[in-house]
Formats: sequence, C-alpha cells, structure tokens
Amino acid sequence: MSYQVLVPDMLNQAGLSALRAVAAFDVIAPGKMTREQTLARIPEAHALIVRSDTRVDAALLQHADRLRVVVRAGVGVDNIDLDACTARGVVVMNTPEANTISTAEHTIALMLALARHIPQADRSLREGRWDRKSFVGTQLAGKTLGIIGLGRIGRAVAERATALDMTVIAFDPFAPEHLARRIAIVSDLDQVLAEADILSLHAIVTDETRRMINRETIARMKDGVLIINTARGALIHSDDLAEALRSGKVAGAALDVYDPEPPAPDHSLIGLANVIHTPHLGASTHEAQTQVGVEAAEAVRKALLEECYDNVRNCEVLDVH
Ligand code: MLT
Repeated sequence: MSYQVLVPDMLNQAGLSALRAVAAFDVIAPGKMTREQTLARIPEAHALIVRSDTRVDAALLQHADRLRVVVRAGVGVDNIDLDACTARGVVVMNTPEANTISTAEHTIALMLALARHIPQADRSLREGRWDRKSFVGTQLAGKTLGIIGLGRIGRAVAERATALDMTVIAFDPFAPEHLARRIAIVSDLDQVLAEADILSLHAIVTDETRRMINRETIARMKDGVLIINTARGALIHSDDLAEALRSGKVAGAALDVYDPEPPAPDHSLIGLANVIHTPHLGASTHEAQTQVGVEAAEAVRKALLEECYDNVRNCEVLDVH
C-alpha cells in the first residue's frame, strides 16, 4: 500500500528527507502551497503536515476523503479545526518538544533587548548619533519575572531567568505540583500581575486566556512593567496594550506574535517607540526546525505504518478509531 503525504507549508530538509526515505510514501512538497493548490491536492492525501500558515478547517476537510492524520510541525494547533478533524476521524498530532529551547532562548533574547533598549540604540547609532543618555536600561538581576503559563516553554524560560538571578513567579492552574519546589507557582493571577517587573506570556489561547492582557489586568500591574509575548497574539488586547504603552503604564513590550498574523501596517502595536518586534521567530532556528521536521515525519510514519499515535491533540478521535 502506498500513502500520499501532502506538505503545503515549508518543512525543513531533514524532515522531507525522512519522509522520502519511506518507500511507501509519495511525498508532495513543492514548497509553500496556496490555498487553491492545497484544495486541489487534498483529496488524494492520507497525511497532511502543516506549520502555522495552512488553515485546516471544515472547508478543506470536506475534500479530504482519504485523510487519516494531520501533523502540526510545531506546537500551536490554533490553525487546525480539531472538532472538524474529530468528526471525520482524522487524528491531529503536534511536535511539542522540538521548539521549546529555541522559543525560550528567543524570549530571553527579547527580555535582554527590551531591558537594555538594544534595537533602539542600534538604530540610533546607524542614524549617525552617539547617544548614551537615552538608552539607560534596567538590570535584570533581582527583578521579578512573572510567567503566565508554565508548560514546556514557560519552564525553560523560568530556568534561564533563574540563572540571571531573577526571582521567578508563575501562574498556571494546570502546572504539576512537583514544579513548585523550584519555581514559585501562585494560585492567584493577580499576585503575578502585581509583583512582576517583567511579565512573559506562555499560555495557550482558550476562552479563558483570550485577551487576558487587557485594560483591567494591565491596571493591576506595576507601573513601568515590561511585557513579552512569544506565545500567541490573541492573549493580548492589542488596543488596550497600545494605550498603556503610550501612557507609560507599561514601559515597554517585546512582541514576537500578533493578532492577526501578519499584522496590518496600521496595527495598533506596530510602530510604537517602546515596542520591539520580531515576526514570529521563536521557533526559527536551524536546530528547532530540523527537529520539528524530523519529529513530524516520524509521527506520520508511525501513524500510517504502525497505527501508533503520539502527542494527539484530539484524543477523543481514538475512541472511535
Ligand atoms: C509553534 O506553535 O510551534 C510556534 O509558535 C512556531 C510556529 O508557529 O511555527
């Protein structure tokens, strides 16, 4: 039996090689495919590997007569309609380990850049100025880092911040208890909001967390707090944060993610002097992308050839499988 594996997003070469090494696989991976190209190919596909660009929604799935698995090469499955997949008996998996360290390192890089105004100082020097007064920064040692969401990435950030001599407190109602020995986990979001000098978001988007950083929660933070978001743009109410950045209530923000992506040029958070930006680069390292690709390929191989499923995001589908 041969299986068609459709890859409509850019997947690392190591992942493509691992797929092509499986004799039973016919791999369709021409590079970034348009929605129309994906719709044209989906009826023949047994497996689909996507990153965050391809929307796997009911409209796509209704043409997916042979589809058995969708693998998200990465962590967030917010571009995949899990209920629609479940309804069609399609198993959805992700590769939750592969991005962890790179995204945590990017968070630390943004925190240092934010605290020391590195992008602004770089820009100033390039523009011909020698200005040492405008960029007086904040030392991180002794400051309190508040982490919202203590999954793999949140924990990796906490460990690295501890090495910088920061005090780390975290809010995550689902964090396993044994973590509390090493990280101060608080049961009250307000405590993290009130104590953090720097707040870093690592939660997934749910009905409870969507726009959790908004006018009301910002009002409960310290004056001059710094905010970092390498998780998902929808955790923040963009207009409310922009207002707080303009007033100085929030002294600065470092944003890797936006709502929507890419942000429109007139997005309220783009262009503020006290905001630094990267275009969703948390997982963009050679190491992470190699690992993501290899793990995604292995997930497809095990699913189609061995009926073995790891990191399933819609577990209820296996009850009827
Ligand atoms: C993820 O969810 O894996 C990261 O945000 C990176 C990505 O979307 O590719």
